[in-house]
Amino acid sequence: MAISSTDFVQAYGFAGPHRSRRLRETPLMRKLVADVRLHRDMLVLPHFVVEDPAEAGPINAMPGLERMTVDGLVRAVAADVQLGVRSVLLFGLPASKDETGDVAADPNGIVPQAVRALKTEFGQELLVATDVCQCAYLSHGHCGFPDASGHIHNDASVAAIARIALVHAEAGVDLVAPSDMMDFRIAAIRRVLDGAGLEAVPIMSYAVKFASNYYGPFREAAGSAPHHGDRRSYQLDYRNAGIALREAIQDEIEGADILMVKPALAYLDIIRGVKERTDLPVAAYNVSGEYALVKLAAQAGLADEVALAEEHLLAMVRAGASVLITYHARELLRAGAV
Ligand code: PBG
Ligand code: ZN
Repeated sequence: MAISSTDFVQAYGFAGPHRSRRLRETPLMRKLVADVRLHRDMLVLPHFVVEDPAEAGPINAMPGLERMTVDGLVRAVAADVQLGVRSVLLFGLPASKDETGDVAADPNGIVPQAVRALKTEFGQELLVATDVCQCAYLSHGHCGFPDASGHIHNDASVAAIARIALVHAEAGVDLVAPSDMMDFRIAAIRRVLDGAGLEAVPIMSYAVKFASNYYGPFREAAGSAPHHGDRRSYQLDYRNAGIALREAIQDEIEGADILMVKPALAYLDIIRGVKERTDLPVAAYNVSGEYALVKLAAQAGLADEVALAEEHLLAMVRAGASVLITYHARELLRAGAV
């Protein structure tokens, strides 16, 4: 005999457990009651821009993506804008690296060139953000300057990072995103930008960036793996939640406009924790390793790429992120998923 709610009222004296499958019966009902949704306006698509045309081409570790020259980037973005891509995040790959990293702050360097080209071509149709760091420009591959013992010097590195942010801002970028994890870099960047009359340029801080094993494909794409040592003296230890949340609040106090958590999938608790502690927008970086796992699973026939990516991104939104930096953006738009 079927169970009715009357049985529960008799058994428990109140209406009792809810017949919750009612809200899952049809696609429109499920959509109606969905707590979270993905929208194309939330997505940011990262790009790798090369100065040396010989380095352009497919990225083996990240199937479906390419390193592009500035011209190639403008062409690709033109198609992407038609498709519905609203925002991009640029990583520059200079033709050569050295011990000074000075090229990173060259007003005619690869990133300022790309920013000017995109803003000239697309204006307000495209939001352009830049990653601000030195690791792709320094021959040793660290995000700051090592001293003789190999320790990364904080304050000298911060001064260089702020100069890079200034050069990107002067080139017309819409948003600077420092990813180096030195202490006090947000305050330094804010001071330098404001001093140059660029107080309208916001900072998206890589506020909580863990020393993660998920950056492998990116380091292949950008040729930015450290030659000696690792990044554990500046990026966060993933055994710590408290220190991570404190980093986020520190960046808010220093003047960050958007707080990013990176990686995202293994750090949903951190996204939620940051969201609970701030009124600023929270961004999730769905990093290269997370992308590669989905791609490889799909290639092996183990999962539907778009559906799996959607599931991951929705989890980030459920946790509290409202900005999603993801290499899947184009795929999601092509599939009509956003
Ligand atoms: C460099 C930087 C990294 C990423 C963004 N900026 C790599 C690193 O810190 O080693 C990772 C992005 C990704 O894996 O998608 N500061
Ligand atoms: Zn770096």
